[in-house]
Amino acid sequence: EKGTYAHYMLKEMDEQPAVIRNIIQHYQNDAGDIELTEGVRSLVSEADRIYIVACGTSYNAGLVGKDILERIAGIPTEVHVSSEFGYNMPLLSSRPLFVFLSQSGETADSRAVLVEVKKRGYKALTMTNVPGSTLSREANETMLLHAGPEIAVASTKAYTAQIAVLAILAYDIARANGKELPFELMPELARVATIMDSIMSQKELFEDLSDRYLKTTPNTFFIGRGLDASVCLEGALKVKEISYIQAEGYPGGELKHGSIALIEDGTPVIALISQPKTNLNIRGNVKEVVARGANACIISMQGVEHENDEFILPHVEPILAPLITVLPVQLMAYYAALARGCDVDKPRNLAKSVTVE
Ligand code: M6R
Repeated sequence: EKGTYAHYMLKEMDEQPAVIRNIIQHYQNDAGDIELTEGVRSLVSEADRIYIVACGTSYNAGLVGKDILERIAGIPTEVHVSSEFGYNMPLLSSRPLFVFLSQSGETADSRAVLVEVKKRGYKALTMTNVPGSTLSREANETMLLHAGPEIAVASTKAYTAQIAVLAILAYDIARANGKELPFELMPELARVATIMDSIMSQKELFEDLSDRYLKTTPNTFFIGRGLDASVCLEGALKVKEISYIQAEGYPGGELKHGSIALIEDGTPVIALISQPKTNLNIRGNVKEVVARGANACIISMQGVEHENDEFILPHVEPILAPLITVLPVQLMAYYAALARGCDVDKPRNLAKSVTVE
């Protein structure tokens, strides 16, 4: 039930800190260590490469997961769109592990791939929010997202839950392989939850940004680099699906290779800047679009040097930054849809779970 909330999407965005805490609870033992089932542990210990297969927002979460798995666990990871993977399977490694990311666990495009990889004798792990769902039942193992029912068509809390669960998996693999861990994950996730609370208690700031940048525009860009670029894809998807604004999520450095031609006087460009490594580069890209008339909105994070930033998010470990940077873009998409009179929870042409291929 959405209770006093105007929309399920708003309620589900608000639930994200609680979801992260719930995930911490479910995946740690009394000593505070990450605890996965023996089944999941043995699946990942046999793998030499991970193939993440997913659609939409789950695919976008997979892009973040790839970086976390490669950087923390050192395991090569690829991310594929289900509807492409089924028909154009890449060359596989000798011991592949397929990880299906799906909020609903019912997405037909993903299921088609699962059927095919099982036929070939490969193992699969499903990360889903729905116990007993098709993708969960048909895979060898399941890791649950513990996010509670997600009703709004626009996925929000499943995205952050997937990233948190992928990080837990990465840490477990890293520990099993004796790799040095850069920071302690569970306490950092707990901090992430606290920071999420503080962002969600300042919603009016993002409503204001949405009014200034998105309310009346026909189009917009989200730009970032590295992990920020992955969150930009998610930001653009959120804006497209609920507010019907034409939105592009783009790696900042790639703009000048074509898409910058679309920048006109007043085109809103929302830049996400959380990664110290690429701070100067992306700020250079912002200057490029501003020079062509763009109306730039910078959302950054403490830990990177700022200039004229609209909003500076509290610092978290850069590899977990997507858990934080996605909140402002979810909120801006929500308020844009509201201001434009769109049906937030049930956008046109879309269904919550896509059960046809
Ligand atoms: O249930 P799934 O995670 O498999 O769904 C995948 C996509 O259909 C879903 O994420 C879709 O893109 C959402 N409407 C995005 O908000």
